[in-house]
Amino acid sequence: MAEPMDTSHILHPSSQGHALASAGWLDAHFDCKRPEYELILRSVGIRRGWHVLDAGAGSGSFLRVISEEVGPTGRITALDLAPENVEVIEQRLADVPLECPVETQQGDLMSLPFPDDLFDAAWCANTTQYLNDDELTAAIGEMCRVVRPGGLVAIKEVSVTTWNFTPGDPARMWRLLDAVQDTDAQVHGLMRVPELATYLKRGGLQDVSQRTVPVERRQPLRASERQFIGEIIGWVARKAEGTALPEVDRAYWKSMIDAQSPEHPMNAEDFYHYEVQFLAVGRVPIDA
Ligand SMILES: C[S@@+](CC[C@H](N)C(=O)[O-])C[C@H]1O[C@@H](n2cnc3c(N)ncnc32)[C@H](O)[C@@H]1O
Repeated sequence: MAEPMDTSHILHPSSQGHALASAGWLDAHFDCKRPEYELILRSVGIRRGWHVLDAGAGSGSFLRVISEEVGPTGRITALDLAPENVEVIEQRLADVPLECPVETQQGDLMSLPFPDDLFDAAWCANTTQYLNDDELTAAIGEMCRVVRPGGLVAIKEVSVTTWNFTPGDPARMWRLLDAVQDTDAQVHGLMRVPELATYLKRGGLQDVSQRTVPVERRQPLRASERQFIGEIIGWVARKAEGTALPEVDRAYWKSMIDAQSPEHPMNAEDFYHYEVQFLAVGRVPIDA
């Protein structure tokens, strides 16, 4: 049997070595962005009665909204690479069933374990960030294959280049992203987000659209928002260690690992955070 992966150095890891991918973290993440995330999903164009693939379903945060969109005559298949996340979804469905039947499947976006044309739509949220450029192309190809002609492929991600935590010099974030983008695959995936529509078009999808939804948070933060934002700043701040950034930047980011630090923007009365979420949607060609 293969040795389990050492994930002790990764923040909120899945068993597959992905950061920010454990069920507890994903629940906190969804709770923090719920209104915007529900709005984005409801704007995709999913219809009642459809069979939808949730590709990279995590702890199943989006399943309830998808089930409301497809209604009792629809169906969902929730797929994730991490078996422990699939187990969490199964347990939750056993405890609280949804409006429509839901099947679960452990599997990889890049080689989906489904026949051609099985689904009416594929929804892929916060997951392409883990794929390099070739893997993203392969995953889009796979989603196109398993969605029927005329069906939809929808990808949602946050663009890390829009992360702003005020007060503070925004250029510090840009310098940090620039310093790590070539060596940190997840940062690269999160910087590539505005190109998602281009990837969908290159993948042969039609009627491709891309829209953005801002997420803004300010004081007073809910306790869960404070916890989540503190941890996400800590995640990016740790990336400054060992870079060639100026010493003053590295010292700043080191102090950002501790959300109690007096320098931390969340401790300012006028703390303000914004980021931009992207939704890219395309239609599988009828004559493919
Ligand atoms: C950040 S989580 C997002 C989960 C969920 N979509 C959400 O937004 O709450 C990313 C999920 O993608 C899964 N994942 C990463 N790479 C994958 C791949 N190649 N195939 C399938 N799932 C993958 C991870 O295991 C993790 O559960």
